[in-house]
Amino acid sequence: MNYNKKTVKDIDVAGKKVLLRCDFNVPQDKDTGAITDDKRIVAALPTIRYLLEQKAAVIACSHLGKPNATFEAYVKKQTEKGKDPASITEEAWQKSLKKLSLAPVAKRLSELLGQDVIMADDVVGPDAKAKAAALRPGQIMLLENTRFEKGETKNDPELAKAMASMAEIYVSDAFGAVHRAHASTAGVAAYLPAVSGFLIQKELEIMGGALSNPKRPLVAILGGSKVSSKIGVINNLLDIADTIIIGGGMAYTFAKAKGGSIGKSLLEEDWLDYCNEMLAKAQEKGTKLLLPVDTLCAAEFSADAKPVLYDAMSIPDDMMGMDIGPKTIAAYTEAVKGAGTVIWNGPMGVFEFPAFAEGTRAVAKALADTDAITIIGGGDSAAAVAQMGFADKMTHISTGGGASLEFLEGKELPGVACLLDK
Ligand code: 3PG
Repeated sequence: MNYNKKTVKDIDVAGKKVLLRCDFNVPQDKDTGAITDDKRIVAALPTIRYLLEQKAAVIACSHLGKPNATFEAYVKKQTEKGKDPASITEEAWQKSLKKLSLAPVAKRLSELLGQDVIMADDVVGPDAKAKAAALRPGQIMLLENTRFEKGETKNDPELAKAMASMAEIYVSDAFGAVHRAHASTAGVAAYLPAVSGFLIQKELEIMGGALSNPKRPLVAILGGSKVSSKIGVINNLLDIADTIIIGGGMAYTFAKAKGGSIGKSLLEEDWLDYCNEMLAKAQEKGTKLLLPVDTLCAAEFSADAKPVLYDAMSIPDDMMGMDIGPKTIAAYTEAVKGAGTVIWNGPMGVFEFPAFAEGTRAVAKALADTDAITIIGGGDSAAAVAQMGFADKMTHISTGGGASLEFLEGKELPGVACLLDK
């Protein structure tokens, strides 16, 4: 995939109406709706500030959550969830949409920018159109949640055209959503000159650079619970990395595939053959594939469970693996020490439980201490690094979850492919 895309600096935005796709899909408090982490809003600020300084009129947009754009879709989803039919009403649907309004984001963005953010009541309806038409250079407005339009996730050309009709230039800075071929992330680029913002530019430069021309040795640390969610990543990185380190729940399926006893640990039977294929591929490619040698186990999945250490290949029947052990930590830390670039995706254990957080913490610390380029591929590992206080020690923490995973898989990302090449 070509990562060398035109940016806002390669196009004259002065005095122009710019449709800016951001990823404002921020976590919110279930009860109050308050934004609990505004990192994604903050990450969009450099592009927004640049556009406003250039006296562009900025029409920002984003999705938030996964709303049901039609009442029929809402009924279907609630019925599938087994909800009481009496509770599945138009009113309840409207209430569910209201919870996913971008109004709180407009408020937070306005506080961060120190200027008014005009909130539209719809995406391409009369309110958005009128507000976009009246928008002056240096002003910013925010459209309502793009997924309130049923055409958004279907990449409906009519919706893309309607969004494009409000602007003269399309800028995407929604790295977290570039793996989605939706109307606002990809479709709209067919109707306007399309360039990237600074966030996408940075993500492509750092992550793209690590994949296409890494400072070697390139060490990839892959964790998380399931092999099945990392299939493409392991396969792709075996072609690129010098060393692959496996931790987290998925290490047990690998251990089982190698003939180990894993007790009650997480096992994905269907992926045993895949693990063996990957072990063979590593050997064939000469890529080092490191697996845990010892494992901290517990009798039950609980924060209060007593940690007991076992050899990773001989976990007793009544025990389950919860974290990597000290010998494994030492080996993984050593591999990180000698690296030129480290890419990390997925925790090493159940780090939410303090007794089983040491493996993830030790890996985070090893990354914080190394001079290597360190890239955190979003999701849980980004949360772990932040929670453990190492965030400012990393070269780059991706704002993408699913998007960074697909990036590491080497997949073409529709939201990047649609932008103009340099
Ligand atoms: C994310 O949170 O990873 C992005 O905003 C994409 O959201 P989605 O998985 O709902 O498309």
